[in-house]
Amino acid sequence: MEAAGAGTPPSQPPAPHPEMAPLAFLLGKWRGEGEGSFPTISSFRYGEELLFSHHPSKPVISYTQKTWKAASGEPMHSESGYWRPRPDGSVEVVIAQSTGLAEVQKGSYDAEKKTVTLQSELVGNASKVKQITRAFQVADRELSYIVQVATITTSLQPHLKALLKKI
Ligand code: HEM
Repeated sequence: MEAAGAGTPPSQPPAPHPEMAPLAFLLGKWRGEGEGSFPTISSFRYGEELLFSHHPSKPVISYTQKTWKAASGEPMHSESGYWRPRPDGSVEVVIAQSTGLAEVQKGSYDAEKKTVTLQSELVGNASKVKQITRAFQVADRELSYIVQVATITTSLQPHLKALLKKI
């Protein structure tokens, strides 16, 4: 490895895989707080950390999420998965949740507006959940999202809303 010296530019992270470039705005670690609600439950506040990582040789982003009770720090829901942006502006995501639920999500991204919207194509191993939508937006090193859920008894309603900062 070449030592940094006079005239050597500071080392940069390697460029993302070309197919990942449109979703590069997601990459990194994000931490913040969110609020959960649903017509059938009491609302709650939670802390959250998200990590979107990727190796330049692979056209896929690895995703891990963990949450904790805002008041006590006790662990709550966690999930992990893989995000695959396609050259046509679509994106497909698989997510395994700590509750045992599995999701296949499909949707689209807008690299200029730094948004991603996803709708579940498949929700597996769920007793109540029929549908999940997820909408993400990045602006000024802040990531916000809304997750909506439909169950066997409740139509699609907001369940989670959070604002995270890049750390
Ligand atoms: C309740 C789905 C993510 C915390 C629920 C319920 C459903 C659900 C269906 C029960 C509603 C009912 O009983 O009518 C989901 C789905 C998620 C998700 C599909 C992801 C896509 C999360 C996350 C957290 C969370 C990230 C924590 C940060 C809770 C809590 C309750 C709840 C605290 C109330 C539990 C209770 O009262 O027993 N969720 N959830 N959920 N969820 Fe989620």
